[in-house]
Amino acid sequence: MPKLTIVAFDGTKFELDVASGSTVMENAVKNSVPGVEAECGGACACATCHVYIDDSWSEKVGAPDVMEEDMLDFAYEQKPTSRLSCQVKMTDDLDGLVVHVPERQA
Ligand code: FES
Repeated sequence: MPKLTIVAFDGTKFELDVASGSTVMENAVKNSVPGVEAECGGACACATCHVYIDDSWSEKVGAPDVMEEDMLDFAYEQKPTSRLSCQVKMTDDLDGLVVHVPERQA
């Protein structure tokens, strides 16, 4: 079970044991992490599940695909480490992943 840490905008850390194959968004919603709205339910169609991948993980998580990148243009304060959390799947390789929730969505 990989570990995932989601840091809310106020600094609250949610340290979670998550299922391989689950998305960061699913775990954020399940654990009521504030600031991850996920209006479209994970269809890569809303950009309200925007997170920043921690700098130390950004390379490992990798870049968004074209569809996600287009959607990210609608995200509030997009940065080079921005991803839509519904498109980031947890794997054993990502054990220990840290992501940060932005100040607000869209
Ligand atoms: Fe809508 Fe991720 S939940 S784009």
